[in-house]
Amino acid sequence: MPQKVLFVCLGNICRSPAAEGVFRDLAPEVQTDSAGTSGWHLGQPPYEAMQLALRARGLDISDLRARQFNRLDFAHFALIIVMDEENKTEVEALRPSGNQIPVRLFTDYANRARADHVPDPYYTRDFDGCLNLIEQAARGLKQALDASASREN
Ligand code: 4NP
Repeated sequence: MPQKVLFVCLGNICRSPAAEGVFRDLAPEVQTDSAGTSGWHLGQPPYEAMQLALRARGLDISDLRARQFNRLDFAHFALIIVMDEENKTEVEALRPSGNQIPVRLFTDYANRARADHVPDPYYTRDFDGCLNLIEQAARGLKQALDASASREN
């Protein structure tokens, strides 16, 4: 069962830290981290508007700091979750040969036929809509991990 999950987006200041914050609240037993395919915001805390939208839901992600995804992440995590196809392409480009860690779209776990990616609120400005989708996908991911754990037991 994947017990170490990495969430990846472009900047690592909006979607992936939000996903990490929502998911670690739901599944504290799972080790989590997040990263960006770009290094544009290295060391920065999550985007203020995203922090505020999460705080309104009782979640604090002010401890998180942006970092860039790198090929060692394939060795450290059991599952990599990306927010859109562009993230997936960038992540796959760094996969070491022979490595078979799954890279999955977060929306694969959301029960919403129309969402095939998590829209970037840095551009859409729809932080709450983004969080609604992230919360749904996080619940689906937890169910999937719980189901794979019970199959192993
Ligand atoms: P994220 O959003 O990938 O969800 O963290 C972005 C944040 C910043 C930028 C792009 C996307 N940017 O261009 O600075």
